[in-house]
Amino acid sequence: MAKFNENFLELKESYLFSEVAKRVSTFKENNPDRDVIRLGIGDVTLPLGKTVVEAMHAAADEMGRAETFRGYGPEQGYDFLRKSIAGHYKIFGVELDEDEIFVSDGAKSDTGNITDLFSRDNTVLIPDPVYPVYVDTNTMNGRNIVYINGTAENDFLPMPDRSIHADIIYICSPNNPTGACYNRDQLREWVSYAIENDAVILFDSAYESFVSNESLPHSIYEIEGAQKCAVEFCSLSKTAGFTGTRCGYTIVPKAVTSTTSDGREMNLNKMWNRRQCTKFNGVPYVVQRAAAAVFSDAGMKEAREMTAHYMKNARIIADTMEELGIRYTGGINSPYIWFECPFGMDSWQFFDHLLEKACVVGTPGAGFGKNGNNWFRLTAFNNAENTSEAMKRFKALFK
Ligand code: MLT
Repeated sequence: MAKFNENFLELKESYLFSEVAKRVSTFKENNPDRDVIRLGIGDVTLPLGKTVVEAMHAAADEMGRAETFRGYGPEQGYDFLRKSIAGHYKIFGVELDEDEIFVSDGAKSDTGNITDLFSRDNTVLIPDPVYPVYVDTNTMNGRNIVYINGTAENDFLPMPDRSIHADIIYICSPNNPTGACYNRDQLREWVSYAIENDAVILFDSAYESFVSNESLPHSIYEIEGAQKCAVEFCSLSKTAGFTGTRCGYTIVPKAVTSTTSDGREMNLNKMWNRRQCTKFNGVPYVVQRAAAAVFSDAGMKEAREMTAHYMKNARIIADTMEELGIRYTGGINSPYIWFECPFGMDSWQFFDHLLEKACVVGTPGAGFGKNGNNWFRLTAFNNAENTSEAMKRFKALFK
């Protein structure tokens, strides 16, 4: 009999967003006539930009002609896209070699897949609250997880605790779910802590395009020393509306290493390449052409317009919190608004209350960790009309 990986028994019964979707679909079945507004999962609503769609069409035409048809592509991504990504990093003052860039189907997959490279015997440091994929994937591997607390008192930006040793450190900035964003000094501290501990930072920058404050970093590589200790994951999902199109990128600098039990230094870039060649056949050519178009001048302009549109929604939500005197974070350098649950409710109680009374879906903070038990997340990714209507209904709860 095949023996099951019992680490899976340690997981919550369902993934956070599947649980939310299940509850919403039950509510819809029971209330077919009520109009539900979704501000739950961070899924975009604006269509792909014109430049991106044209590039996709042109690539689809190439695939339909014998002379330009392509079969398997390079597992690491086509050179044209790796070059565009390296060009994008130059805007942040970061120089990358193209072979340090690996094109993927999104940051969710790669933040999980990267765990393949690390032994089970590592201590993993994970902020709480945070995107649940880091905890779930390390739990699947049976690793020891140590949490650091993000609370209102530290503005949901926990800093290293020198009394704790960690081998692998997850950082998500701007943070999902809290919208809080580390500044340069804070990231410098994380990089020093990682170097002191011989640890690797796994830096999720999926929301970097929402950073509006010019003094805040978009990439961990803006910090000196990070190219020796950090792997970075980014995605076009939120930047350019690729949640359904699927394209992201992972940066594994050649200087980042990890050690074997007999003391050999392993080059993570080489090992990640080895892993990808075995387990991944690359992102479709058509999608990679679309992704490269995002990095063109016209594509970036369209992407920035999308971001600006969503950030107006974020303003509407944040203004509502201000008006009602509810404690909140986010909404400035992030499409998420994270607020304290009103009426003394915990986050799942408030989820049900908001759905039942206002027909608005949000995401309960408890799904991101215990420090989220009394907090709640709303996303700015719906359209302006729905966001305004949702906030009208939200305010009515207080009358
Ligand atoms: C979220 O709502 O947290 C994100 O959409 C999830 C994801 O990017 O996988």
